[in-house]
Amino acid sequence: MAEGVLLGTGREADVFALDDGRVLRRYRHGGDVTREASIMRYVGECGLPVPRVDRAEGAELVMERIEGPTMLGAFLAGQLDVPAGAAILADLHGRLRGLPPRPGARPESRVVHLDLHPDNVMLGPAGPVLIDWRNARDDEPDLDVAVSALIMAEVAVNNLFGLGELGARFLAAFLARVPGDPVRLLDTAVAMRRVNPTLSTDEVGRLDEAASLVRHHWRSTTP
Ligand SMILES: Nc1ncnc2c1ncn2[C@@H]1O[C@H](COP(=O)(O)OP(=O)(O)OP(=O)(O)O)[C@@H](O)[C@H]1O
Ligand SMILES: [Mg+2]
Repeated sequence: MAEGVLLGTGREADVFALDDGRVLRRYRHGGDVTREASIMRYVGECGLPVPRVDRAEGAELVMERIEGPTMLGAFLAGQLDVPAGAAILADLHGRLRGLPPRPGARPESRVVHLDLHPDNVMLGPAGPVLIDWRNARDDEPDLDVAVSALIMAEVAVNNLFGLGELGARFLAAFLARVPGDPVRLLDTAVAMRRVNPTLSTDEVGRLDEAASLVRHHWRSTTP
């Protein structure tokens, strides 16, 4: 498909603006977007704020363009403070947890995003919108919360984007608000991150330290 201006480039995909208020997201190394597109459509129909999906074929997803920065961009620009950002992320987890399971999924399962962090939330004109559903599946909500907490702890221990100190404060604020138990499935989250090809060797080497930071802050927020 003919692409427009490059809007964003993540670790796995390029996102191009199309000329009609939509974007094309294309995986650089191929792949199949139909599974994530069907999850996006389901959660969108349930009322979760996600981009409307217009076409999903092969490695290409055409969806509604969201105007606005990501939460990470807003943090870096000094436009978002820690309590407000943590509340947005915790609220998205709460809303996901509250959705009914997908038809055919185990009744106790829920849709989980498994990459719910500030660079995958866009601050659009109508509010926060959750993007990048590549890892989404039907699973336990506590796993989703553990992965989010671990990613924030990784930012803290690796000083990613120069946000080490802010990452730690963000993690604590998130843990104080998020529903569920972020440490029950933390070992599973660590095992998943360990084999995630987007992490550098250094980042993999600090995963245990990141998990300890989650446990530390979780203990200090629970009575
Ligand atoms: N619907 C959208 N509307 C406008 N911009 C978007 C949209 N979806 C994605 N983007 C832009 O493209 C960037 C990358 O998108 P996305 O997170 O989906 O790709 P990715 O390659 O999986 O990223 P990463 O691997 O870094 O998590 C986003 O940060 C955002 O700037
Ligand atoms: Mg992303």
